[in-house]
Amino acid sequence: MQKLIIQGGRPLHGEIIISGAKNAALPVLCAALLTKETLKINNIPALQDITTMLSLLEQMGTSITDHRSSEVSLTAANLTHLVAPYEMVKTMRAAILVLGPLLARAGEANISLPGGCAIGLRPVDQHIKGLQAMGAEIHIRHGYIHAVAKKLQGARIVFDIVTVTGTENLMMAATLADGTTILENAAREPEIIDLANCLIAMGANIQGAGTDVITIEGVQTLYGTEHTVMPDRIETGTFLVAATAAGGEIHLKNTDSRLLDAVLDKLTEAGACIDANENWIHLKMDSKPKSVNLRTAPYPAFPTDMQAQFMSLNCVAEGTAIITETIFENRLMHVQELKRMNANIEVEGNAAIVYGIPQLDGAHVMATDLRASASLVIAGLIAQGETIIDRIYHLDRGYENIEEKLSALGAQIRRIN
Ligand code: UD1
Repeated sequence: MQKLIIQGGRPLHGEIIISGAKNAALPVLCAALLTKETLKINNIPALQDITTMLSLLEQMGTSITDHRSSEVSLTAANLTHLVAPYEMVKTMRAAILVLGPLLARAGEANISLPGGCAIGLRPVDQHIKGLQAMGAEIHIRHGYIHAVAKKLQGARIVFDIVTVTGTENLMMAATLADGTTILENAAREPEIIDLANCLIAMGANIQGAGTDVITIEGVQTLYGTEHTVMPDRIETGTFLVAATAAGGEIHLKNTDSRLLDAVLDKLTEAGACIDANENWIHLKMDSKPKSVNLRTAPYPAFPTDMQAQFMSLNCVAEGTAIITETIFENRLMHVQELKRMNANIEVEGNAAIVYGIPQLDGAHVMATDLRASASLVIAGLIAQGETIIDRIYHLDRGYENIEEKLSALGAQIRRIN
């Protein structure tokens, strides 16, 4: 199994290019199932989750062509196998995103239940409830969601909770339904706008993406198009936190500060000087960071996917911070690992109280989920001595070439087998 070895204590300096967003690319890949024509996608990140999704779409009958660096073309002329098997869904929960498109286009889908996940229960009841409201017959059999619908019907659907992939799944399903679908209490994440833009370019009729009410007028057919995936706001935020914690001056290209308002506010509060526009972000940090309290909530509030990284920053900040996780019930697993590095953190329910200390100690730690892995990398960069991070396959699901990008910023980081 591969590990990362980091020698901490170096500030970060330099310029890197941010990759396309994993969480935007995954639903856009699934949108290819909605048309017989070719969907060409640019700015795809090279990540394990993308490889898994491409294999899943391929085994359903999608032909994958021109896959080079950050581009890929998908043609789902004939869908031959309407199944998402357990082996694929268990490694990547986002595989549930094929459910809506398959049902809308082929009238049937058999998707393994995602099951338990390290960061929480993460049920898919909202996806199922919405598709049932659109007329689908859904049964759970042998751990699979078996869904059938001759033709989905438009419906008014009010989500009980805000769900990102739930909103995306139903938005895709509704594009080919009969009549109008209204999604209320919809998620407002920028990735939903990116998906809607792709679907609109394919011929869909969607209004309100990015607000909590999305209206979709079903159409008969969708067509091929070319789409460029938005920048990864979580990768962007992770590098910005790393530089705020380690000190230095970094310039991030191919990203957009407007996607990160809540994160940039917190970094400024921590003491970072930030200059930015819609193409780049420049961050300078020449003092010790100050503690920042935060509470995760659906977009546009502070993202749960940035909580773990800010935990590492707060470990070495001046003062005490309270971090409250409201989205997932078990997303504080990095605390135990950070404590192995001498961090002073107390957990009470869904909140962590982080008492800043002068420095973390390098240690052997284990990544437990994707964003927790990123927090350990940041901790390793600011710790005294050597940090070894195990189970970095979690990191490879969501960060493209992380050690190359950090090395380009002057970090001492290497991967070993
Ligand atoms: C997406 C992101 C993930 C991010 C999360 C929250 C992708 C591929 N992943 O995950 O990186 O951390 O949003 O911003 O885009 N829930 C239910 N029933 C459902 C669906 C969700 O109870 O049917 C709950 C979940 O357990 C969780 C909360 O709703 O507590 C939010 O989950 P959701 O927004 O659906 O997360 P994902 O879309 O899986």
